[in-house]
Amino acid sequence: MDYQIKPLSDKLGAEINGIDLRVPLDAETTTTINNAFVDAVILVFRDQELTAQQFFDAAQQLGEPMDQHLSQYKVPECPMVSYVSNQERSDDGKRKLLGKAWHTDHSFQPEPPKATLLHGVELPKRGGDTWFANMRLAYEELSPTLKQRVDGLEAIHAYRESRDYLTKEERGAEALTDEEERANNVVHPVIRTHEVTGTKAIYINPLRIKRFIGMNSEESADLIDELTMHATSDDFTYPHSWQQGDVIIWDNRQAMHRVEHNYDFAEKRLMHRIILKGRKPK
Ligand code: OGA
Ligand code: MN
Repeated sequence: MDYQIKPLSDKLGAEINGIDLRVPLDAETTTTINNAFVDAVILVFRDQELTAQQFFDAAQQLGEPMDQHLSQYKVPECPMVSYVSNQERSDDGKRKLLGKAWHTDHSFQPEPPKATLLHGVELPKRGGDTWFANMRLAYEELSPTLKQRVDGLEAIHAYRESRDYLTKEERGAEALTDEEERANNVVHPVIRTHEVTGTKAIYINPLRIKRFIGMNSEESADLIDELTMHATSDDFTYPHSWQQGDVIIWDNRQAMHRVEHNYDFAEKRLMHRIILKGRKPK
């Protein structure tokens, strides 16, 4: 295949043109794609038109798809693919909009997915951007004081139904010891080393971190805010404005993301989603 890769911004992101994901990739192209994705943190494949099954087959060439735990969002004809839709409503009739706040996917799992793939199936005419933060760059640019503070630090990640930030009160609600937290929840380093490149990145999830080991909830909340403010500043972020046919793969080991629901809700926004197996963060 004759394809071109070019950067999307000077913060992160690359796009690849001339690839048809319905066609099996040769070994050399697969290597180039994998390197480009890790290097740029997110890679956008333009002009794809894929059924859920074709999307799944393509993803299998880039990693090992993982089952996604929320069964109500599985695409019936291909249950390893789930969907993200703005048409979902909770029992009280309120629109359920996921992913509005900065996060990295599934950090409450002992081995979080290395990557997430989204295929824009139906997009609003404009808006509905997905924002990405380059957590590798954010680490590099961390002040020496803050770098020292987070060096060797570990965070307690826990799943909750609600996708809202934990309030300080909630964080402090159950005062469990570090040992109890380790036994009940998942603990990950705050600075992780990328298993492919050996580079370091800040690994936080403001939606899922209860607190840091050796730190109370109050202090932890302040540090999470400080790190999030730093990492999501204009210096390290890129908003992706979706085009019909885009497939994005992003690296959860070195990115946070969020969606901006700044469009007319009469319009449908539907994504197909696959996550790829990852290792325990180190
Ligand atoms: C996700 C997610 C953002 C979006 O699928 O994990 O956060 O733009 N999606 O829909
Ligand atoms: Mn997400």
